[in-house]
Amino acid sequence: MTTVAAAIDEVHAEFEAAGLSYGHGTDNAWDEAVVLVLTLAGLPDDTASLERELKPGTLENIRQISRARIEQRQPLAYLLGICHFMGLDFEVVPGVVVPRSPIGYLLHEGLAPWLPAKISRVIDLCSGSGCLGILAAMIFADADVVLVELDDNAANLARRNVERHGLGERVQVVQADVTDLPDLGRFDLVIANPPYVDAADMQALPAEFRAEPELGLAGGEDGLAVVRGIFRQLPLLMNEEGLFVGEVGNSAAALMRTWPGLPFVWPELPHGGEGVFVLEGRALGSHTAPDFS
Ligand SMILES: C[S@@+](CC[C@H](N)C(=O)[O-])C[C@H]1O[C@@H](n2cnc3c(N)ncnc32)[C@H](O)[C@@H]1O
Repeated sequence: MTTVAAAIDEVHAEFEAAGLSYGHGTDNAWDEAVVLVLTLAGLPDDTASLERELKPGTLENIRQISRARIEQRQPLAYLLGICHFMGLDFEVVPGVVVPRSPIGYLLHEGLAPWLPAKISRVIDLCSGSGCLGILAAMIFADADVVLVELDDNAANLARRNVERHGLGERVQVVQADVTDLPDLGRFDLVIANPPYVDAADMQALPAEFRAEPELGLAGGEDGLAVVRGIFRQLPLLMNEEGLFVGEVGNSAAALMRTWPGLPFVWPELPHGGEGVFVLEGRALGSHTAPDFS
């Protein structure tokens, strides 16, 4: 019989030898091997799991998914159909970006200095699987949450994830273009992890990222094509006391060049990384941004 620990060692060695790329919830071969084995074994991530023996069928499944991960260079979450994000499980399907945004950590532990006193309405723009809006609904348990997503596949997945977490009464999925929104009222917290990869970075993406939909990643020449559209909506979308939390990754410099007058704050992320800003609603009245009306 093979133990969980032995299976993790085996998968880890194969992943290392294959030179895979990471970045969909893990950043190294060991963590990815742990996720693969524990998920398929249905065991929690603790040391007691390591000595458990795997059923032959489970071991065969693990080896099959491990081989597929190496041969197809897909994100592991697409092969498992599920991912763990901020302590929650989300269904994941190919064609929809895999949850991993560091905004998740900020929502949990890092926004206190800027959050309005009361969060009654939250909107998650470019919601993909729904992970950030659903997490926000869990954290702000009295708030109503709107998820906005353009893509059919993603909007349907978000609806299933809302149901999975029993949030149908408070979380609504609206299929719309975030650069041309219907009137949804005003919000206390606006979250956005839009596509923001610029054209040069798109050319250099590893296979695992190219397996994700271009609509979810590509942000045009400077990465800000969708971001600009979102900023145009902000004055009508945010309460004056509201807060905007956005992710722009490597396009942070382009964002600051575009709107040098806006007081972006770039909080230190609890688990590293960069490219997430907060912007207070009251800053929007006094900006002098050129493409912002
Ligand atoms: C980077 S993914 C983020 C998904 C999710 N918020 C997350 O953190 O995992 C960006 C999402 O924006 C969606 N999207 C792209 N352009 C859009 C637009 N103009 N309006 C609404 N959604 C859009 C994509 O389909 C994709 O699901």
